[in-house]
Amino acid sequence: MQLGIDVGGTSIKGAVVDLGTGELAGAIRSEPTPETATPGDVVSAIGRIASAVGWSGPVGVALPGVIDGSLLRHAPNLSGAFEENGALACLRSQEGANAVLINDADAAGLAELTYGCAGLGSDGLTIVLTFGTGIGSALLHNGDLIANSELGGLVGSSGRFEEIASGRAISAEALTPVEWARRAQPFFDELEAMLNPSRWVVGGGLSENFDRFASSLDLSKPISVAHLGMHAGVVGAAVAARRVGDGSGAAVQ
Ligand code: BGC
Repeated sequence: MQLGIDVGGTSIKGAVVDLGTGELAGAIRSEPTPETATPGDVVSAIGRIASAVGWSGPVGVALPGVIDGSLLRHAPNLSGAFEENGALACLRSQEGANAVLINDADAAGLAELTYGCAGLGSDGLTIVLTFGTGIGSALLHNGDLIANSELGGLVGSSGRFEEIASGRAISAEALTPVEWARRAQPFFDELEAMLNPSRWVVGGGLSENFDRFASSLDLSKPISVAHLGMHAGVVGAAVAARRVGDGSGAAVQ
């Protein structure tokens, strides 16, 4: 068992995960992310979630930004204090809390690699894209996660794809699937030309009703919704914590 926390631009979610099966061992707890999204806000939310589920001990934390050792870089949806003061140091400021950090989309990818479809990432490259407040990405190749790919930051002729085609853009601009696909298609085309993936997996908020959106895209490779759906980030955060605990992970403790 391991507590995994997924810190998103809109909500902070957490649950105890059964690492044997990848299933949640209890209800998922969720709180809205305060607009300030300071380390204090996030630490308090993690503390409330941990005590609600009766957890003490190390926590796996998925964050939206580049994880560089114990640091977080380029995290536009969180307070700048995370970058300035060191993300791990900020999280550890809570008495007794120890954390393992992973990028949120990488967490979703790691969860899919561990508990998703058999053979994922073994037949060439799988690109996992999470459509939420931003667009996150994870690259799965030969059974490994290639971390911190940040593909949502690519720029198309109408701007950064994560600004024009994210889950947030869909709700803020009430985009229909066809309107969304018109913006997202060049993103998929660019990635296909650059990386030649063999399949796509979609997670984040969009995974809930992705069929409506996927049918408006024109893709030559299969696309599916993350097996773990909206919970993939929480599950992957828990897996990251275990990987460090057993010495097989590269994240920090
Ligand atoms: C961040 C990524 C993150 C994505 C989804 C982007 O703004 O740069 O690191 O994975 O949002 O949350």
